[in-house]
Amino acid sequence: MNVISVKDEKEMSQIAAEKIIRLVHEKPDAVLGLATGGTPEGTYHALVADYQAGGTSYRKVRTVNLDEYVGLDPEHPNSYHTYMQEQLFNHIDIPEDQHFLPDGTAASLEYECRRYDKMIDSLGGIDLQLLGIGENGHIGFNEPGTPFDSGTHVVTLTPSTRHANARFFGKPEDVPERALTMGIGTILKSKSILLIVSGEKKADALYFLLNDPEQTVRFPASALLTHPDVTLIADRAAMSGLPLKGRNY
Ligand code: F6R
Repeated sequence: MNVISVKDEKEMSQIAAEKIIRLVHEKPDAVLGLATGGTPEGTYHALVADYQAGGTSYRKVRTVNLDEYVGLDPEHPNSYHTYMQEQLFNHIDIPEDQHFLPDGTAASLEYECRRYDKMIDSLGGIDLQLLGIGENGHIGFNEPGTPFDSGTHVVTLTPSTRHANARFFGKPEDVPERALTMGIGTILKSKSILLIVSGEKKADALYFLLNDPEQTVRFPASALLTHPDVTLIADRAAMSGLPLKGRNY
């Protein structure tokens, strides 16, 4: 794992964006794996700023997102479809039919999961997958216990994840109980992975990732230790090396 330690969230976002922009220049039809949540917002902001300054075109880029809540319509204000439109897609020149997210309203969720993995394969696989990390070490919505060879699947979100995401919904009860997520196996098939981590709340997860060489399904992000091309960009607060206190995976 290539570890880049930066001052703050702003620098993390800028460096992450530069890496994505470099890839799009080198490979204009790159397949980008994208994440949602608070951590990538600055990265998307930097991509939009670069686009608006006339820098980079996304006309041939294809994107696939990690996850979506079950039961939320794409137009729902808290869906990840809406998040992506608002954070990125509405502001760059990527064509409508080149960005993909799992459909959390599909009649058969099992079929949708299989379709999503096949669709990623048919695009030629993911060139670069952007990831955040959950406080419990989840990547995508792969909660502790998820097998490392899993494909896209339906998950029941843990109370800790619903609690962490309640800030987007108002209260934890409003956060859907289930989601569709790329599996850890799907993520590991990406040619390269860019993990961005910011803030003191992630310090325990990062400490565990960087200090415990054991790969265990109890800590999903440890699967990344098996991948040959992972870059971690983490800010000072996330790297603060807080002792492991009260971990509860
Ligand atoms: C989002 C995702 C999640 C988040 C993680 C961290 O698509 O898959 O794994 O990356 O929950 O979320 P934030 O960035 O909000 O702390």
